[in-house]
Amino acid sequence: MLNNNISDATKYFIDLRRHMWVAGIELDLRRLIWQIAVTGKYISAKIHESNRKLAGLKNIYDEEQLALDRSSDRILRNQLEFSGFVREYASEELDEIIKIGKGDEKYYITADPLDGSSLVDTNLAIGTIIGIHNEPVPSQGRKSMVAALYITYGPLITMVYSAGKGTHEFVLNREGEYVLSEENITLKQRGSIYSIGGLKRDWTENHARYVGFLDDEGYKLRYSGGFVPDINQIMIKRGGVFTYPALKNSPNGKLRLVFELQPMAFLVEQAGGRATDGTRDILDITAETLDQRNPIYIGSPFEVEKAREFFAAGKD
Ligand code: AHG
Ligand code: MN
Ligand code: MN
Repeated sequence: MLNNNISDATKYFIDLRRHMWVAGIELDLRRLIWQIAVTGKYISAKIHESNRKLAGLKNIYDEEQLALDRSSDRILRNQLEFSGFVREYASEELDEIIKIGKGDEKYYITADPLDGSSLVDTNLAIGTIIGIHNEPVPSQGRKSMVAALYITYGPLITMVYSAGKGTHEFVLNREGEYVLSEENITLKQRGSIYSIGGLKRDWTENHARYVGFLDDEGYKLRYSGGFVPDINQIMIKRGGVFTYPALKNSPNGKLRLVFELQPMAFLVEQAGGRATDGTRDILDITAETLDQRNPIYIGSPFEVEKAREFFAAGKD
């Protein structure tokens, strides 16, 4: 790993390729992560190019303008097809997994090409979530996931990745290079922000009691409705908890295990945090279907273990 006495000024010149090489990440995986990070630039251009108010309407050729999440999926797929590293591509935007390699490639990709697409017209930050597996999906995250990353399209474009050797943030600079901004992100044992999804009136008894506990402890509410920036805030502020819980009328919550929860759980665990559905680790859950949803409590150990306690104590 890079020596720790990198001065702030110097560390900004450590680009993504060098960082992965120093970390000893396998060549094809380095190239794949790099390829996806670069694709983030094209997706960002798409977001900024198509006037956000037009997304989903007709373009100047009177063609149906693809919604941004579908066009982001197309950009990602085109970049990964014949890349030589990807055997299969599973996307939140596609009904089934597609084979995009010759059949002998090492990796299987899961993609939420554009997370938070409902926020595009509000100009709030949105993101891309990627899981990289060395076995076919759907799967058990702990067994097959070898890397994960998310890209945040905000005032800056940042990319947070892990290949099992810590979690690190890179920022896209003016020259279009990803340079190191936060290395070995490590969450505190306990944070001070909570990010709570779902309608309050739909919360279960256990969840409401858990939130009440955090309220009494004086946690600050930070929730944008975008999973990527909401998780990224906990990552960069080094702690706290995000939850999208089981709800009275949807016991599995809203977020998708394969496309959203497994990659974020991998990144947060690599940053010393935890992720549970209330009883099991997210990465220990075997996804039976691609669109399986699970409740999630993710972030610092204290808050996540506390959630497990509330759910162990009084089963709903
Ligand atoms: P997507 O845009 O990929 O469908 O994901 C949206 C998700 C996630 O970004 C966020 O955490 C959640 O929707 C917010 O749901 P609510 O609008 O119910 O808060
Ligand atoms: Mn999503
Ligand atoms: Mn999406």
